[in-house]
Amino acid sequence: MSIELLFPTLVYRASLRARGAGALNARLLKECRQLRADDAAGRRWSARHYPDGYTSYGSAHRMQRLSPTFAALARELDRHVARFARELQFALGARALVMTDCWVNIMGRGAVQGLHLHPHATISGVYYVAVPAGAPGLKLEDPRLERFMAAPPRARGAQRRNRAWVTMRARTGQLVLFESWLRHEVPANLEARERVSISFNYNWF
Ligand code: NI
Repeated sequence: MSIELLFPTLVYRASLRARGAGALNARLLKECRQLRADDAAGRRWSARHYPDGYTSYGSAHRMQRLSPTFAALARELDRHVARFARELQFALGARALVMTDCWVNIMGRGAVQGLHLHPHATISGVYYVAVPAGAPGLKLEDPRLERFMAAPPRARGAQRRNRAWVTMRARTGQLVLFESWLRHEVPANLEARERVSISFNYNWF
C-alpha cells in the first residue's frame, strides 16, 4: 500500500537573518508607528475599513519604495521568496518575482481581519514586527473547501495537513509566505498591546 501526497498547499516560515535582524526590526517598529502618526489619509481609511486598527493598505502600500528601512526588509524577503519559489518549482523563465506592494498593519485590541485572498499577486506573506503573547496567529483555510460535499469532518487531533483550517502562530521576527490564492484571516486581537505586522505581495509579471 502507498499513499501519495498530491496538490499540497505549501506554507513557508522562517526567521530573518540572525545578524542585524534585531536592529532592523527595531527600526521597522519605530517607522510603523511613525507612519501611523503621519498618515492622516491612512487613519481615515482604517477607521472605515479596519476598526481598532491602523493599516497603510489604502494609503501607503509601497513602503519598500518610500523607506530605506522597508527596502532593507524587502531585500531580505526577496531571498526567502526566491527559496520558496524553488520549493514550489515555479518555471518563471526570464521573469523574476518582484515585490509589488508592502504595507503596515497595527492591530489594537478588538481589531480583526476577515477572510480574504490577494488577487493579482503570486506570493503573499507577512513579517511580524511585534507580536505580544496571546495575540492571534494567521488562520489559513483549505482551498478546496467549497468543493467538499459529502466529506466528513476531521477527527479531533487530526494532523495539521488534514485539517480544513490551520493557524500559523505569529512570532516576532518571523515571516510567513504562501501562494496568494490561499484564503486567510486574522482573528480578533484580544490583547491590550498592539500586534504589528508588515504584509506584502510579489508578482512575476
Ligand atoms: Ni492578507
